[in-house]
Amino acid sequence: MSRESVEKQFSRSERFSEKITKAVFPVAGMGSRFLPATKASPKEMMPVVDKPLIQYAVEEAVAAGITDMIFITGRNKRAIEDHFDKAYELEAELAMRGKDELLRIVKKIIPSHINCIFIRQPEALGLGHAVLCAKPVVNNEAFAVILADDLIDGEPAVMKQMVDVFSQHQCSVLGVQTVPRDQTKSYGIVASSPLEGSNDLERVTAIVEKPKPADAPSNLAVVGRYILTPRIFHHLAQVTKGAGGEIQLTDGIAALMKEEQMLAYRFKGTRYDCGSKLGYLQATVALGLKHPEVRDEFAAYLSALQHAK
Ligand code: UTP
Repeated sequence: MSRESVEKQFSRSERFSEKITKAVFPVAGMGSRFLPATKASPKEMMPVVDKPLIQYAVEEAVAAGITDMIFITGRNKRAIEDHFDKAYELEAELAMRGKDELLRIVKKIIPSHINCIFIRQPEALGLGHAVLCAKPVVNNEAFAVILADDLIDGEPAVMKQMVDVFSQHQCSVLGVQTVPRDQTKSYGIVASSPLEGSNDLERVTAIVEKPKPADAPSNLAVVGRYILTPRIFHHLAQVTKGAGGEIQLTDGIAALMKEEQMLAYRFKGTRYDCGSKLGYLQATVALGLKHPEVRDEFAAYLSALQHAK
């Protein structure tokens, strides 16, 4: 089906700027799967090798050309604000001690042309509600949503891949990957139909939050990366509590999908579910094996462990 005839099926089709300049990072969740580590500090500040999860997410947005980083924060999230703030005392101390390499690392956490905006989600009412909190800053633009606990190692950066899709198709784009059937109850699952001429894009025809394997329309799962048109705010404002008693982003997306074209994009990259203990450990091992400072010794250590079995 051609793009024009697909668009004709929908009541809404708008032209947006080709560029995405704003990314929303919902970081107000409880992080209960990582208690007690997340009792007093945010899940998104947990390091994988030497960088917190939220820094990987922001670096991905920067690589996609995004300049305005909007953090939806909650209780115990001050560490995130401090991480992206200038640290005068630390920089002065490192400079005084001649620790130039560490000083360089601290200074480049956030490039100078990037704006960080912090919005408080008063209560953790759900991911959909967290995204709705960004409305006063996003206004009438299409925008990215990145969940930092889904760490995706991709080249080019996955959000850059998705911005390229958006530039071409001018509609909402969901980052998806296939998951084992028995795991559908952990994800938003889409039903889709092929988009002519593309191997990695499909047209979304339905989306369901956390279905049981028997009820799941497919095993194509939405994972932590979205580009959404601003019309999503209209729908999120009307969504009532859904799965898990939370205001679900998936329910807003389901309503948006009925009036606008929406694409599912099978991104190129390896995704680690760092919201779970196993995924977090896998990310640590995989990225540790790539880190120039430790990779050789770490590989030798893992190999010795393997042989000791
Ligand atoms: P999760 O479903 O992973 O929930 O949220 P969580 O609270 O972070 O972790 P667990 O399940 O208790 O261990 C997905 C994303 O949505 C954000 C979270 O910070 C995470 O990035 N979120 C969730 C909010 O910002 N606000 C909410 O009310 C809920």
